[in-house]
Amino acid sequence: MLKVASFNSYSEQHRLSLKLRPILVGELYLARKLKNPVYIFKNGLFYPVVNEGSVPTKEQINTLIKNAHREVYIYPEDIQEIKKNLETALVKVTRSLSVGDPLENGTKDLKLLSLNLGGLYENPHNDELLMLQFQSTQNLSKFLMENKKHQPQFFQNLIRENFHFTLSQPMLSSVLLLSFLQSIHLFHDKEVENLFLASYLKDIGISMIPDDKYDLKTLTTRDQELFANHADFSFELLEGRIPLSKNYLTIIKHHHFLNDKMKDLLQKDKKKSEPEIIFGLESTLVSVFDILVAMTNDRPYRKGMSLFQSLELIKMMMADEYPQEFKALVIFLKQFYKN
Ligand SMILES: [Fe+2]
Repeated sequence: MLKVASFNSYSEQHRLSLKLRPILVGELYLARKLKNPVYIFKNGLFYPVVNEGSVPTKEQINTLIKNAHREVYIYPEDIQEIKKNLETALVKVTRSLSVGDPLENGTKDLKLLSLNLGGLYENPHNDELLMLQFQSTQNLSKFLMENKKHQPQFFQNLIRENFHFTLSQPMLSSVLLLSFLQSIHLFHDKEVENLFLASYLKDIGISMIPDDKYDLKTLTTRDQELFANHADFSFELLEGRIPLSKNYLTIIKHHHFLNDKMKDLLQKDKKKSEPEIIFGLESTLVSVFDILVAMTNDRPYRKGMSLFQSLELIKMMMADEYPQEFKALVIFLKQFYKN
């Protein structure tokens, strides 16, 4: 149980609501000595959970995560400090990935990149932040290819962080994609790198969706439209700002095409929507790994399904067009999840 302080006065609560801003619980790892307390918001009130003048301990952070707190509330001056520390730590680990223990470095890099992605969702027009994400991801792809044997462990370690799915999903699906592409030897390293980047950045359009919509089980038609448009938003946000060719930006723009195909398959008697574009193997694989990771992991409103169940669905989506690749995928996943 979290230790919470006694009830503050009404005026104190009001003052806090004007001052405090949310950050993700995982970002507390980057805090040094805090100038002010850290609060949680529960039943309409702010409660302090970390004292001012202290450094949040691993135990305090884990307790918050265990109690399903996605965000904590802190003062802007402490937020600035934490965001600065996060960027510094990301730059440092990105530059020295090959120095020291690769498992430790890779695990740390995946965690910092995913946390920093949260900052990009908040400020999608910040060029500096976007380039930091782009360059760090580019470096990471080379490092991952060089450290093939650690890929399953990197993947599992990121799942263990228990980040909100909007932060972990892009990295998880991209690590799995990279690992598979490397195993089938059909693509050059540069193509694998570009597909890794496209897969990782494909969801930044969700920055246009209000935070409180992600955890809802049922959405209004308008919200459904908003979610359906996030791939277009991603394309619009990235076009002209990152050194990825049109081909990869197009993959981002259409990365949900398989979901639409799936809907058509599940509603056989209804009129099928005509595909306007022919999608290639690269697009199919980016989409497949996105769907696979989404289906096999828990969401706030549902449990994840088994690998076997999700492969049944993926078979329907790709096995007709790509029977060899589907077979290779099944063999690859068995091996990847065994490690
Ligand atoms: Fe997406």
